[in-house]
Amino acid sequence: MRQNEPSYKRIGIMTSGGDCAGLNAVIRGAVLRAHGLGWSVIGIDEATHGLLKRPVAATELTPDSVKGILHQGGTILRTTNRGNPFAYPAADGSLSDRSGEIIEGYRQLGLDALIGVGGDGSLAILRRLAAQGGINLVGIPKTIDNDLGHTERAVGFSTAVVVATEAIDRLHVTAASHNRVMVLEVMGRDAGHIALTAGVAGGADVILIPEIPYRLDVICEKILARRDAGRNFSLVVIAESVKSADGEAQQYVDAHGQSRYGGIGRVIAEEIAERTGAETRVTVLGHVQRGGSPVPLDRILGLAFGVAAVDLIAEGRFDRMVAWQNRQVVDVPIADACAQYQAVDPDDTLVRTARGLGICLGD
Ligand code: F6P
Repeated sequence: MRQNEPSYKRIGIMTSGGDCAGLNAVIRGAVLRAHGLGWSVIGIDEATHGLLKRPVAATELTPDSVKGILHQGGTILRTTNRGNPFAYPAADGSLSDRSGEIIEGYRQLGLDALIGVGGDGSLAILRRLAAQGGINLVGIPKTIDNDLGHTERAVGFSTAVVVATEAIDRLHVTAASHNRVMVLEVMGRDAGHIALTAGVAGGADVILIPEIPYRLDVICEKILARRDAGRNFSLVVIAESVKSADGEAQQYVDAHGQSRYGGIGRVIAEEIAERTGAETRVTVLGHVQRGGSPVPLDRILGLAFGVAAVDLIAEGRFDRMVAWQNRQVVDVPIADACAQYQAVDPDDTLVRTARGLGICLGD
């Protein structure tokens, strides 16, 4: 602790961006550690949206409030991945800067520091707010996409991989029963971590990720070779941001003007059906990957990150994000984590494993 700094603190915590499994473990870790130090913790509702409300939407979190939440999916604090404070959408579609109101809301809570749990987008926004408002910010990485830099794992990724692997296992048996090519489209935004990890774990025959450009003829050759070898079915796992053969990402703009991935599985399944004559079916796994009970690894990571974030505050070390490196919790500048997008390295050990197993990566 820095000299002359009071030992009692009042800290805030918010979960921001898309939810994932393990967020309640983070909250529990932070609350129990802070309580052990004799501090109080204020849970801010629905990320920065809670700070825009008057009165500010926030409640004190005690050890009692975090009882029995470790195994629960979602976040007891709720979250949002909409409404950038610096370009906040109004009902008439115009955008305005509401950062000042959010900072004022934060001040009304009388906090010494804030723990922000988020992915790259949320942490970058919180960092900007912190710089503008003089907020003592500590970050915790969470995202099923696992695309934040300088941390080997973010909370939520492991559970998403388990869900996707179980889906492949289930598709395996129905594919074999019907002599079909089953295509599974998984989330991951611009990184192929979920597709690659679950695809290898589930024994997929073809895995397509945005980091490795594919050729349709290579995929079809693999499926036909399996058929020639007496294997009557194939499993194809595709990351949502893979582009179609003509180089187009399958994106659409939703009713709120936000761009979303979705649909590449169907595009590629139809090409496979046309070129090989195989019967294909498509499953888009979607938000199932974000919900449900966190697997033990996400609980451990969440608890460890929650404790470590409070320890960073105790040490007066701000603008830093806790991270997982070499089986240890470390901390890195939030700016570095956000600046380095962690895509799959085409030389990664898992890519080499997949190739060694004869899995087709489309190239
Ligand atoms: O970033 C997490 C993620 O689940 C991505 O994998 C996916 O593309 C996106 O969020 C979906 O966002 P939303 O919840 O807004 O549909």
